Amino acid sequence: MRASVEQNITATKQKYLSALVGKDIPAKLEQQLDEMDWSYLKLIHQKEQKRGTFAPLGAMEIPEIEEKKTGFTKVGMDAIRNTKVGAVLLAGGQGTRLGFDKAKGMFNIGVTKELYIFEQLIANLKKVTTAANAWVPLYIMTSDKNDAQTREFFAEHDYFGYDLEYIRFFVQEMVPAVDFDGNVLMESEDSLAMSPNGNGGWFKSLVKAGLDKDIKAKGIEWLNVFAVDNVLQQIADPVFIGATIASGCVSGAKVVRKTNPYERVGALCLEDGKPSIVEYYELTPEMAEAVNENGSLLYGFGVILNYLFRLDKLLEIESKQLPLHIVEKKVPYLDENGVLQKPETPNAYKFETLILDMIYMMDNCLSFEVVREKEFAPVKNATGVDSVESARELLQKNHIVI
Ligand code: UTP
Repeated sequence: MRASVEQNITATKQKYLSALVGKDIPAKLEQQLDEMDWSYLKLIHQKEQKRGTFAPLGAMEIPEIEEKKTGFTKVGMDAIRNTKVGAVLLAGGQGTRLGFDKAKGMFNIGVTKELYIFEQLIANLKKVTTAANAWVPLYIMTSDKNDAQTREFFAEHDYFGYDLEYIRFFVQEMVPAVDFDGNVLMESEDSLAMSPNGNGGWFKSLVKAGLDKDIKAKGIEWLNVFAVDNVLQQIADPVFIGATIASGCVSGAKVVRKTNPYERVGALCLEDGKPSIVEYYELTPEMAEAVNENGSLLYGFGVILNYLFRLDKLLEIESKQLPLHIVEKKVPYLDENGVLQKPETPNAYKFETLILDMIYMMDNCLSFEVVREKEFAPVKNATGVDSVESARELLQKNHIVI
């Protein structure tokens, strides 16, 4: 095994690691090197992904949803009361843009009182569980970087009043980050700089943790997967669940109407006839500005990372490989002198799979429009667009005391 490690070290021209060749490599590092999928490295030279032919996909829009709300709510509430719905909180990200060094959910979004992101999300979910008089099993994905602190934080806060019986934590996989020349980086003398492998691996990690058994034992048929960073996230929304079930679709995605043709969100559409998400930078100006007979944008509904998946379909695609995305991020690393550097600007590539690519693996997907001001307050940055400031404003607009 050592020989192949040394070959790889040479291949990646990693200065720090070459210094270790011939010496004792700490056990943790040796294991990381053994487990590393070196084929990732060649991907940094072929960053563009091949995409198929895009076509617009309409959405179930707010007037129609309002008209059918009573029926949808009944279907959704029945599913919740019969424990057919579980929720999955994706909280393994590093939130590098926010610049907060703990799990993003531990961020205090309050102004006059403490109000943590996790707390607000649980409060949003409890609105539904209280109305249904039934708990929704909640699966929380963390990463090696924030697992212990997340579990401790929830325990310290008594799970924000959620029934611990219905909460399970699981940890996602990690992959090594590389610098822009493809050299692996070290984060300490006994460890490569590792980062979470993106939010696309959530179902595999959930199964690896054995939680599929828990899901099956409970009789869950649908999983509502959502991001940690939208404080207005409506979780296990009975109307959304009911509409998706009633539509006969195997998946659903909450979407908001784009504010302008060039808004930096992924738009739900069709790709080679299958549901898919086209990124804003993949749209040509003609596609971005194209409108229908009512003047609405054809690629005008952006996803907000709130999806509903039917369990049998997730099990069907579990072993399939999702495309790898290469993302530029700020990754702390040991320099040639062994000094830890914390870069101010992106210095490395991370390899991630993304949940949005799972939509393309579904036979169909209900595009379900929601009111942006009521359901979309992302906390991505410290200031400016999609920031702590903008999320606070939106919370206040929704009469949430912060
Ligand atoms: P983002 O794409 O915003 O990534 O995550 P991030 O790592 O949290 O933040 P930046 O880009 O470094 O600032 C969207 C959602 O996916 C989760 C995040 O926790 C968030 O809920 N996520 C992301 C994971 O659970 N694991 C990952 O590896 C990446």
